Amino acid sequence: MKAWLIERRNDEAHIGMSDVPSPRMGPGDLLVRVRAIGVNRADLARRTGHYERLPASTDLPIPGLEMAGEVVALGQGVRGFHVGDRVMGLPAQAYAEQVVLQAAHALPVPAGLQWIEAAALPMAFLTAHNAMVTEGKVRRGDHVLVQGAATGVGMAAMQIARLQGAASIAGSASGGKLPKLAEYGLDHGFDYRTGDGVAQVLRASGGHGADVIIDMVGASAAASTLAAAAERARWIQVGRMGGGQATIDLDTMARKRLALIGVTFRTRSSDEIAALVSAARADLEEALASRRISLPVAKVFAFDEADEAQAFMRSGSYLGKIVLEGAKG
Ligand SMILES: NC(=O)c1ccc[n+]([C@@H]2O[C@H](COP(=O)([O-])OP(=O)(O)OC[C@H]3O[C@@H](n4cnc5c(N)ncnc54)[C@H](OP(=O)(O)O)[C@@H]3O)[C@@H](O)[C@H]2O)c1
Repeated sequence: MKAWLIERRNDEAHIGMSDVPSPRMGPGDLLVRVRAIGVNRADLARRTGHYERLPASTDLPIPGLEMAGEVVALGQGVRGFHVGDRVMGLPAQAYAEQVVLQAAHALPVPAGLQWIEAAALPMAFLTAHNAMVTEGKVRRGDHVLVQGAATGVGMAAMQIARLQGAASIAGSASGGKLPKLAEYGLDHGFDYRTGDGVAQVLRASGGHGADVIIDMVGASAAASTLAAAAERARWIQVGRMGGGQATIDLDTMARKRLALIGVTFRTRSSDEIAALVSAARADLEEALASRRISLPVAKVFAFDEADEAQAFMRSGSYLGKIVLEGAKG
């Protein structure tokens, strides 16, 4: 099959297309013909060696973490899926014609969704559901702050907060993107380049502060995140686009009795991912199928344009997910 591989040339990381053996399937696995692939920041990090290797079905350095496609074979003991089913999920090694995805990690693609739309969903919505609901414990009437509202995870998180009955949703993005983000649940947007948004959060919550903070930014926003947090807030650290080293006033943290919780797929066990997928399916399947929640697709690239797709992601000048079509043939 065709797959992209991470290669080192002249001491620099590149990706190049190769012919490689198909992945090996084990008990409980689905073999999936990939129809579309979501591009993620982790794909860029993996290329430069900053993303630890996930358990995978081949030893090849194939990038990619997210796809949608159809089941072509079932591993021993698989229940609930059939050959021909449309599925989406987070396999390792998604930049390929075929992937192995554990059945317990697979989500059905809702009828009526195109492959491109489906491949944009799993990473953002699974991450956001875990952060907002499981770790953030968002409740009806909560005030929410999303640092990085224009990210895929941010847009998914705001829609989940809406579904769960949040009272107000504040969030940071560059100014030009703020009006569009209202469609994805943002009530009180602020431009992080010209202000830190603390006043916005306090105004939106009647001085109470944010009960749940979903943070894709990290260091550059840490001081304002802490200042905007309500007493007993849950601050879920998801991404570090504004840097990974911050100084936090621990006295303020203690005074607010704040919970700071980090999340990542890199260290989760297979059982933990299965539980996360199952919780998200229970809460989100109907809303995804009826398109009450969705993500915009910023740009679609052909399978042989993966390098261009990653360069476009590095530019940062887009809103929504970047998706690769599956290999033709
Ligand atoms: N922990 C996990 O399990 C997990 C899972 C998925 C993703 N992540 C991480 O979460 C982050 C978001 O991923 P994604 O794929 O959703 O991102 P994405 O869709 O690629 O988002 C990119 C957008 O982030 C915005 N941004 C960049 N710097 C910012 C800043 N300092 N403040 C506010 N917004 C900023 C930019 O829009 P503007 O024009 O608004 O700047 C940019 O267009 C990444 O760091 C990713 O690695 C973590």
